[in-house]
Amino acid sequence: MRLNLALILSIILAVGLVAFSFTFYQISSERTKLNSELEIRSARIAEELFQDTTFFYGQINQKNIEHFARSINNKYNLLDIAIYYNNDSIISYNSSQNLIDHSLDYISQSIAADTTLGTFITVEGKNIYQYIKPINKENVSTTAIVFYSDAKYIDNIISSIWFRNFMRWFLQALLVSFITVLVIRWGIFNPINKIVEWVKAARIGNIEKLKEPSPAKFLAPLYKEIVHIAKEMNEAKATAEEEALLRTSGEAIWTPERLKAEIKNLLQNKKMIVVSNREPYMHIHEGKEIKCIVPASGMITAMEPILKACGGIWIASGTGDADKETVDKDDKIQVPPHDPKYVLKRLWQTKEEENHFYYGFSNEGLWPLCHIAHTRPTFRKEDWLFYKKVNDDFAKAVLEETADEEQPFILIQDYHFALLPELIKKEKPNAKVAIFWHIPWPNPESFGICPWQREILRGMLGADLIGFHTQYHCNHFLETVNNALESQVSWEDFSVRIGGQTTYVKPFPISIAFTLKDYKYNLPKIKLSKLLNEQGITAQYMGIGVDRIDYTKGIVEKFLAIERFLEKNPSYIGKFTFVQIGAPSRTLLKSYSDTENAVEKEAERINLRFKSKNWKAILLLKRHHSQSEITPYYSSADLCMVTSLHDGMNLVAKEFVASRNQNDGALILSRFAGASQELHGAIIVNPYDIEKTADAIKLALEMTTEEQEQRMKLMRQVIVRNNIYSWAATLLKAMTTIQN
Ligand code: G6P
Repeated sequence: MRLNLALILSIILAVGLVAFSFTFYQISSERTKLNSELEIRSARIAEELFQDTTFFYGQINQKNIEHFARSINNKYNLLDIAIYYNNDSIISYNSSQNLIDHSLDYISQSIAADTTLGTFITVEGKNIYQYIKPINKENVSTTAIVFYSDAKYIDNIISSIWFRNFMRWFLQALLVSFITVLVIRWGIFNPINKIVEWVKAARIGNIEKLKEPSPAKFLAPLYKEIVHIAKEMNEAKATAEEEALLRTSGEAIWTPERLKAEIKNLLQNKKMIVVSNREPYMHIHEGKEIKCIVPASGMITAMEPILKACGGIWIASGTGDADKETVDKDDKIQVPPHDPKYVLKRLWQTKEEENHFYYGFSNEGLWPLCHIAHTRPTFRKEDWLFYKKVNDDFAKAVLEETADEEQPFILIQDYHFALLPELIKKEKPNAKVAIFWHIPWPNPESFGICPWQREILRGMLGADLIGFHTQYHCNHFLETVNNALESQVSWEDFSVRIGGQTTYVKPFPISIAFTLKDYKYNLPKIKLSKLLNEQGITAQYMGIGVDRIDYTKGIVEKFLAIERFLEKNPSYIGKFTFVQIGAPSRTLLKSYSDTENAVEKEAERINLRFKSKNWKAILLLKRHHSQSEITPYYSSADLCMVTSLHDGMNLVAKEFVASRNQNDGALILSRFAGASQELHGAIIVNPYDIEKTADAIKLALEMTTEEQEQRMKLMRQVIVRNNIYSWAATLLKAMTTIQN
């Protein structure tokens, strides 16, 4: 209120001051203008009269002057006329002695100077203008004539200007005050109240309250920061609670904080470098804006929380069309964008390099080679040469980044960089190098079809440690080495000795960032009906699938199982909808565009077959979805289907389970995904067996809540105990204990 009043008074004062100054200036120039007009007019009257001089030659008496005055008064509307004659007599038309008395001194001055004289005089409170003209002619007794004009109208005009300007000032002040009050109310007090609400919500950790959108655009940056602070405060609070819980329960569950402390201890301030082809953050142009997205990749889901917890450098290929615009001169950028925790260094590939290294050797050669999904691998010499070249480039970048470090820790990710361990070790023998193979390793016969299998194996064996998701993949790898290379394979400690270097081959089942606080967090459930209604669908039950559109994911097989389920259980027609989120992937490759077409065609065909109003059997959402878009589907679905034909681990299965904080829902999981080795609470299926997978859907939908709970709890406990922080700690510990 006080602020309002002070502001309004200041505005009134300021507007008043401006109005007064302008009025003052306007009045003084108006007065000057009116005065000079009166002067000009009086001079003109005198000029006109003096053309007819007969009067001045005649006798001067009251009668004559009255006659003269009357004759001109009609025309000029003067107040009075006075004639000064014989140098000492004066006579006026109205015989107003007062006027005459005021004029005598001026008349003498005018005659003495022989010049006209116009002055304003105040007589009996009236403002009068007198114009004196001396007459200097022979035989003329008149020596001066005085014209009196009423100048009151000038005062009237000036007063009306004052009045008008006062009214204007008054109305302006009123209006401005009114608008100010509104602006203060809507533009300041309301936003401040909103900010207070936000800060309060942040203080008490009410994140839900902060989900209401920012009311004004200008508050958006502040809103973002407050949400951020709230999240951090909540996390800190939850972490403290979690730590307390861990202390009392004696559980050895890994948290980011624990990992950070462990890494500090293990690495002893040595640099940690992560290398992968796919970058964790990709900048792309969207209209005029640059958007930052997290690409769909299980490898990123796993590695990103580690870097976020512990810092370090992540070297990856910059593939976003706005990536170059967002890095510094060293091609580096701090990420995550809104809360930087580590450095992303981008390396650039030419189109040709990308075609041969990424699409060619990595994804048409090694990917189908390692996944037994019946898509034939293609090996071309040129692709291989570029694969070597890009591995070389990355090795140089790693060596550059670690030039000042004798024993850095280098974690290489995936099949794109099989040659990197050897290239790095050759230059930096003391570096601790591990390569983690995120995809399956096939049997030796299958791998043996690769024309460069020896080079690949030798490249990988440059590492101190090779990690796979399962022991099964480790065994396949060791068998492959045994078959292909002259080396010592030890089945006792799962190691390979070749050329004086020992490499350990161990399973590290990768996981997600799921800690005790996430385990306990009560994730708000979005109503199924709301979620589906937004897509124009009404259904009672929902299944969810989240995959990159890849032939290894068994999406078509999944759809066939859904079709068979509806066929066998017609009561679910119109009631069960399966939502398939599919991120287009590697679309330049024919095998992938064919898969995309097949997935679309199957969904259309099945939907057409069971066509019904406001309902679809399969809702295919074919685009990249952010994690926050996917989460509501995870938490609201009745079941999740992961039907990979072959998969290293599959983190979608773990993410779905992690999101089920009420221990409900069911997971249908392919036995060919690494996750099936750990998630024993899932309904395990062979995705090639359409009949049984269809039955699994029915089983999942009709499972009792007790059984759901029992299975879900089991799986959630496995994931929380073997989360990504425990994965990283185990892997890094294994690296440090290796003495080469
Ligand atoms: C798999 C691989 C990752 C890869 C991801 C996405 O999960 O293990 O290394 O990043 O697929 O594939 P993309 O080719 O898009 O990187």
